[in-house]
Amino acid sequence: MSYIDLRSDTVTRPTGAMRTAMYQAEVGDDVYGEDRLVNELQERVANILGKEAGLFVPSGTMSNQLAIRSQTQPGDEVICEYSSHIFNYEGGGPALLSGVQLHPLLADHGILTSEQIARAMRPTDHHYAQTSLITLENTHNRAGGVVYPLPVIEDIAAYADSQNIRMHLDGARLMNSVIASGLDPSAFGDHFNSVSLCLSKGLGAPVGSVLVGDAECINRAHRFRKMFGGGMRQIGILAAAGLYALDHHIERLADDHQRAKTLAETCLELGYLENDIAWTQTNIVLLAFPDGNTAEVELKFKQAGLLVSVVNDHRIRLVTHLDFHEEQLHRSIEILKQVLG
Ligand SMILES: Cc1ncc(COP(=O)(O)O)c(C=O)c1O
Repeated sequence: MSYIDLRSDTVTRPTGAMRTAMYQAEVGDDVYGEDRLVNELQERVANILGKEAGLFVPSGTMSNQLAIRSQTQPGDEVICEYSSHIFNYEGGGPALLSGVQLHPLLADHGILTSEQIARAMRPTDHHYAQTSLITLENTHNRAGGVVYPLPVIEDIAAYADSQNIRMHLDGARLMNSVIASGLDPSAFGDHFNSVSLCLSKGLGAPVGSVLVGDAECINRAHRFRKMFGGGMRQIGILAAAGLYALDHHIERLADDHQRAKTLAETCLELGYLENDIAWTQTNIVLLAFPDGNTAEVELKFKQAGLLVSVVNDHRIRLVTHLDFHEEQLHRSIEILKQVLG
């Protein structure tokens, strides 16, 4: 049986044209800094986000972890959101790799405010860990692809600046925010010391993220990338996929958003949409199951040909992406009605 796969936007396969770009890529040894396409990709993402330098890394997780390691000291505290990827899905990395403690704050729809952060700050006193970094996630995955409002980011950044605290953005899906908001990527980037952008989610590359920031931060991250075993060699073939994605797969995210909206409308009609439909802002749709029967529902979807992601007993997630086309949208709506109707 061939399935419609809405578990994640990471399930996409490189298109024929992307594979051609990879096949034709010239390569060099990137540990020597000699892979031209990697250098081009790093510079390109840094420019797009208004930063001095970039570093190509294997995953979004490594990118976030390098950002934390290169901008904190062991014993520091990092403020993040309670349902953020960094706090929930990165294997406790900050404790081991950076020796920092996370201070997660629960926020409405994943959106922290400067007031909330100010309240959570530790006093300057020897009893307390000192906050040295704030991390935000845009779009916010677990909140359902929510776009961080720019004024909220501006407020947090102004507060962070006043306290001499650095800011990191987990921008795994930043381009979804860019397309949904119509803002320039640098409008977001300007407010952060470092930004991680994933190429392997909505952008459809098979692998890779780019961490950008000021030259000193990226230089430190480069050293830690080597230490963590992330130095790679002839990876121009991967950079070529990333460059192709930047050229061809950003504008089309609007299609993913439109299809997610259509799915959300169906879920709303059926009574299973978790939040007000205004919160379906990008490519993620959250369904709520008050009876806690998501495992059973997942199986029914699977038997009907649709793969979904079970977040917990009460929540299922659908994610639209490059390999999810109009015919599959129609079929998915039929399946949603058949299983939930
Ligand atoms: C918001 C967010 N950040 C980081 C990551 C980590 O990316 P990777 O799976 O490449 O490590 C993910 C993965 O889905 C994510 O959703």
